[in-house]
Amino acid sequence: MQFMQELLHAASVLHTLTGRRFGHPVHVYMQLGSTNDEAKQLAEGGAPEGLLVLAEEQTAGRGRLDRRWLTPPGTALAFSLVLRPTLAAHLALRVTMLVGVAVCKAIQQLTPVTPMLKWPNDILINGKKVGGILVEGGMEADQLQYAVVGIGLNVSAAPADGEVDFPATALQTEAQTPVDRLLLLSTILQQLEEHYALLTAPDDQLRTNWVSYLTWLRTPVVVQTPTGDILGEAQGVDTDGALLIQLPSGETVRVLAGDVRLRLA
Ligand code: BTN
Repeated sequence: MQFMQELLHAASVLHTLTGRRFGHPVHVYMQLGSTNDEAKQLAEGGAPEGLLVLAEEQTAGRGRLDRRWLTPPGTALAFSLVLRPTLAAHLALRVTMLVGVAVCKAIQQLTPVTPMLKWPNDILINGKKVGGILVEGGMEADQLQYAVVGIGLNVSAAPADGEVDFPATALQTEAQTPVDRLLLLSTILQQLEEHYALLTAPDDQLRTNWVSYLTWLRTPVVVQTPTGDILGEAQGVDTDGALLIQLPSGETVRVLAGDVRLRLA
């Protein structure tokens, strides 16, 4: 079932975001290269926490590991938010944890589906990718100066199998119900605001919340990392967001960056 989307209008975006802490100021583009590139440039220039860049269409959208991210007009939600948390740079993966939790909670709030996260940044529904998170930071010494949180969600259409390296789906296809993109945007921002304090909280709440959405734990996986493949069983994650992989030798290693794939026995 296909539900069409109305094109975004700056006035309706402004209206929807009234009262939100995140989402001010907001820059709305009908077409842009990448909202992350634009937000990063604005953050480098001193843009405040809460600044949002939203694009109807991206012509050079980026995913992790230099992959391209497709955002055809009228079908998706693509935006980047500037955050300025007081966080050590080596804890930047906690921002991805926070965003994953906020997006999943927003999807649950608006639709009957159960979203899951594939470590560290893929949003899945029924085993297919519906969205992704790209967090990019500016740092000085070991202090995060800013984090640009990029979120892309397939709302009414998804790329075909040949166009992506992981099966994709769209939120409306899985939910079998119309999803208003601006309401989705506003709900994600609301969830981010509500959970923001967990980012720097000394307790285990952010990790516990994140784990409740993580898929493929206690499963044989292969993690493709910049330094080679790691084969083992995903055991869990630590408070910094690192994936804990138990090797066949019994030793457990921490992985901070990589791409996880299921390993068939
Ligand atoms: C991934 O799955 O690897 C992450 C995809 C992140 C895509 C979003 S869309 C908005 C923002 N702008 C970009 O160029 N990328 C992110």
